[in-house]
Amino acid sequence: MKILLAKNSGFCFGVRRAVEMAEQCAKEGKTVYTYGNIIHNESVVRELAEKGVHSVESLETLQAGDTLIIRAHGAPPAVYEACEARGICLIDATCPYVKRIHKIVERAAEEGNTVLIAGKANHPEVVGIRGWAGDNAFVLESEADVSLLPAMQKAVLVAQTTLPEETFHAIERAIESRADSTLAMQIRNTICDTTRDRQSEAEEISRRSTRMLVLGSKSSANTQKLVEICKKHCKNTENIDSTDKLLLDKLPSDDIIGIVAGASTPDRMIREVLQVMSEQEKTTIETIEAEAPAEEVVVPQVTEEVVAAVEAPKATVKAKPEPKPEPKPEHEDSSDFASAFEKTMTRIHNGQVLEGTVISVVDGEVFVNVGYKSDGVIPMGELSSDSDVKAEDLFKEGDTIEVEVTKVNDGDGNVLLSRKNVESKKLWDELLSQENIEEKIFDAVGKEVVKGGLIADISGIRAFVPASQVSTKYIENLSEFVGKPMKLKVLEVDRQRKRIVASQKQVLIAEAAAEKHAKWDLLVVGSKVDGVVRRIADFGAFVDIGGIDGLVHVTDAAWGRVKHPSDVFAIGQEIEVIILNVDVEKERVSLGYKQLQPKPWMLAGEKYAVGSIVEGKVVRIVPFGAFVALESTIDGLIHISQVSVHRIAKVEDELKVGDVVRCKVLEVSPEAKRISLSRKEALLEEDPALAEQLAAEKAERDRQYAERQEQRQQQQSQQVQQSQSQPRTDRPERAPRSTSSDRSSSRDSGDRRRRNNEDGDYELPPVQEAKTSLASLFEGLKVDE
Ligand code: F3S
Repeated sequence: MKILLAKNSGFCFGVRRAVEMAEQCAKEGKTVYTYGNIIHNESVVRELAEKGVHSVESLETLQAGDTLIIRAHGAPPAVYEACEARGICLIDATCPYVKRIHKIVERAAEEGNTVLIAGKANHPEVVGIRGWAGDNAFVLESEADVSLLPAMQKAVLVAQTTLPEETFHAIERAIESRADSTLAMQIRNTICDTTRDRQSEAEEISRRSTRMLVLGSKSSANTQKLVEICKKHCKNTENIDSTDKLLLDKLPSDDIIGIVAGASTPDRMIREVLQVMSEQEKTTIETIEAEAPAEEVVVPQVTEEVVAAVEAPKATVKAKPEPKPEPKPEHEDSSDFASAFEKTMTRIHNGQVLEGTVISVVDGEVFVNVGYKSDGVIPMGELSSDSDVKAEDLFKEGDTIEVEVTKVNDGDGNVLLSRKNVESKKLWDELLSQENIEEKIFDAVGKEVVKGGLIADISGIRAFVPASQVSTKYIENLSEFVGKPMKLKVLEVDRQRKRIVASQKQVLIAEAAAEKHAKWDLLVVGSKVDGVVRRIADFGAFVDIGGIDGLVHVTDAAWGRVKHPSDVFAIGQEIEVIILNVDVEKERVSLGYKQLQPKPWMLAGEKYAVGSIVEGKVVRIVPFGAFVALESTIDGLIHISQVSVHRIAKVEDELKVGDVVRCKVLEVSPEAKRISLSRKEALLEEDPALAEQLAAEKAERDRQYAERQEQRQQQQSQQVQQSQSQPRTDRPERAPRSTSSDRSSSRDSGDRRRRNNEDGDYELPPVQEAKTSLASLFEGLKVDE
């Protein structure tokens, strides 16, 4: 089947302009009225009414403030005046070419011309022109009407823009044959080029076609004229005012179908018819164009140019009609319709991505015009990968969107579309265009649990996360990740099948490593950190200092001797430690605990006050005394003289290592790390009876000693008296004076005598002497710090 399509089909410039002005008013939310139907097409009028553009036949129904659109046909001046008088806002959509005729006839009337209008008397355009032409104007529907004209001195002939060319010329010839030599006649062929071309194309196509389809309303004059022209050359001519009336099965495959359309036929209707036709097998479409005008003309921009032309008419009495047609408008609408069709009427198939225009958004579904015979619908689930978004928030009528055809026909004639797929494809393109995506980390959301893992959404792209890659630890129930944000690293991309395998585990491991590394960087030797004892070994305690375990060696656990770290630490104990050393390579940290504890000798002065009784264990015995451990790091010395209340020959007579003894503190010297103790003093202080007994014994000894002294003095006195009573020669010879060494020796022997007197008394050495002796003994002794 072959289709011959007229190039000039569908809305003409003036009609399109008027319809667009009306639609613009509707978009602005105004309720507007048109003075009569804006075009001769019922479906378009109905659609506009749904948008708030209503047609009125009389101004009586309008009120002040209402908006009235003058349609492309124009209107007589009375309408303008009435609107102004009643406060009705006017939007003048009169076609500029009709407006030009108004100017011509108005000026002609002002100059005293009789205005002759070739056209249908009841056509709205002619009614409008008649109004501008004044009282001396006549409408000529055919050459027959010329004979009815009164006598005229001068006249101007214009034509309805859609008048058939032959009718105009017939009237023109009739006027020429009637006019006498005194008539000054101006003939202005104001037939619109669009109409002229359209009719020429209709004639040519109808001559070549076996069947003609004239698309347009039965109420449209120019459509009916096309029907009339086509019928002259093709008996099989049909006026199609609705695609529903197009019966495909009546079209033989070898037919040559000619298609023309009136100036008020919407493009949509032509597209639909062509689509239906194009679906027939072996269909070809050929565009037929009317012959080009003999001379190119300038497109008028404003009507003033037209006025100027009227002001300086070249026509004279009985002048022949100017061969040159009236200036031609810029027919944006009469562009190559077939090429427009080619652009929009693409055969669609599943998976195809199209650009469409949103027609409406209803109940979460979006209806889209994709230039196909059927409108498309985007079901709710195909709007976006984000299931929370609403169609109403995403789209509004008139939006241009890209969609993918998921099903050409859903069974009800609708095309199923998906915007989500288009989004996803774009995302894939973006994703795959990135370099080294395997090294990147993507934000994602867990979507659903599937066999073997989890499906996550990466910005609209589904990624499979194997169960083993969800976390660093075993996850019993993967559903806890559904709806939760995740961070994924792409493990594998199948670009052909558009599949991604991703891992959160890798991200977590990397994050932990980075965190650990950052922590290691924070470890500064000498700084103090808090930690928790996690594990105790024989050689020390492991302390968690914020993700890193450091070791407190047993030697750094306390200042004193520590048999086992558990003597100092307990698992779970929170302690403060000092960083002694950091080995990043081996990931080892040495910690110190004792370093943050006060040194024991610094407290010894307070802890072991002079005169207080303390308890300790004998840890070592030496000839001059016994060392007693008061604590692990502090030993005191009991001088042998302070070991017992009795005189002893050696310390072991009274004490042995391991004995726990109570002692009195005699002296404390933290600087010298020395404490002098007395067990004897403690015994006496803690046993008053013993002290009393010893005191009594001593008192008795002192008394006896005093008696002996007295007796000795008496004896010596007697001896002196006896010697004085004897002559001097009887006196014994005096011993020579002793030397200093002899005196010293004598004093030492005297001291020894005093300590070991014959009565067995125990005379305590002076404390001062013991201290002097202890000081010399402590010299050179080292106590473990
Ligand atoms: Fe205007 Fe010509 Fe259309 S006069 S309304 S463009 S047919």
